[in-house]
Amino acid sequence: MRSPIDFLPQGFLMKFPDPSLDLFADIEQIKKEKNAIILAHYYQEPDIQDVADFIGDSLGLAQEAQRTQADIILFAGVHFMAETAKMLNPTKKVLLPDLNAGCSLADSCPPDIFQKFKELHPEHKVISYINCSAEIKALSDVIVTSSNAEKIVNSFPITQQLIFAPDKNLGAWLNKKTGRDMLLWDGSCMVHEIFSEKKVLAELYKHPEACLIAHPECEAAILQHAHFIGSTTALLNFVSKSDKKIFVVATETGILHQMRINEPNKVFIPAPANNACACNDCPHMKLNTLEKVWMALNYEQPEIQMDESLRVKALAPILKMLELSI
Ligand code: 13P
Ligand code: SF4
Repeated sequence: MRSPIDFLPQGFLMKFPDPSLDLFADIEQIKKEKNAIILAHYYQEPDIQDVADFIGDSLGLAQEAQRTQADIILFAGVHFMAETAKMLNPTKKVLLPDLNAGCSLADSCPPDIFQKFKELHPEHKVISYINCSAEIKALSDVIVTSSNAEKIVNSFPITQQLIFAPDKNLGAWLNKKTGRDMLLWDGSCMVHEIFSEKKVLAELYKHPEACLIAHPECEAAILQHAHFIGSTTALLNFVSKSDKKIFVVATETGILHQMRINEPNKVFIPAPANNACACNDCPHMKLNTLEKVWMALNYEQPEIQMDESLRVKALAPILKMLELSI
C-alpha cells in the first residue's frame, strides 16, 4: 500500500508529527492560521470526529461543503466524498488525509461497463448513489444519498423507467418503499454485507428489549428485522428520540462514538459480523488517522485534483440533488 508521501511532488518530504506534540491543540491552531475546516464522516475514528468542525452523513457533508467560507477543506472521509467537496469548490484546496481511502461500493461500478449497461436501456433515467466515482456521476441524471433517496426517486413520474446504481441493497429497499421496479446495478458495500442474520437474531434474543437499527446498505435479510432503517444521521436522531434503552446497530462502528456522546445512558451494541474479526469497521474510512490529518493540514497535501470537464459533468447531478433536498 502506498503512503501519502508517494503522492507528494518529488523532493517534498512530509514528516510524521513529533510524538510529544499535542495533536489536538496543534490541529486547532493550524485550522485558525490557514482558515481551514475539517469535515468528518461518522465512520471516522473518534479522535478525528473530536477535531472536526462538522460531522455528518453524506448529504450533510455535501451541504456543508457547499456553504463553507473556509479556504482549505480537509475531508476526513473517503475519496468520493472529498471529490464531491472539490466539485462544489473548484478553487479551494480540498485535502484527503489518505488518498487510498476508497470505497468498495464505488469500486463495484466500473464506468466503462456501466456506460454499456446504460446504452442498453436508452429510455431509462439514471439515479446514482453518491458512493460512486465522478465518472459514474457524470453518467447520471441525479445523485442521491441514503437520507434523500426515497424523496428523489419519488420525484420522477411513476411511468419513468429508472436505473439505480451502484448499491443493489439500497436499490432493493427503495424499490420496496416506493413501489418502483428500478433496474439495479449489482454493487454492494463490503461493510454492510458482513452482518450475520443468525448472530443479529441471537443478540436480539439475548436483549428482548433492544431495538435493531440498520443502514439501508445492509442486505434484506438484516433489514427485514430492523425496527428503524435510515442514513447515519437518521440513525443518530432515532436513538435520541426513542424511549428504548438498548440498540443493536447494523452499520459501521464509527457511528457508536457520537451515539455514546449524545446518549451516555443508553447501550449501543454493534451488530455482529459473520466472522470473528471486526469487519464492520470500514477499512477505507479507517485509513485516515489523526496523524495523517495533522500532516495533511500542515503540508496541504494530499490534495484532490480533478479534470475540469469531468468536474462540470459530474457536478450537474449533484447540484440537482442539493436543489431537491432543500
Ligand atoms: P450516510 O452517512 O450517508 O448514511 O452513508 C453511509 C456510508 O456508507 C458512507 O460511506
Ligand atoms: Fe464504501 Fe461501505 Fe466504506 Fe461506506 S462503509 S465508504 S460504502 S466501503
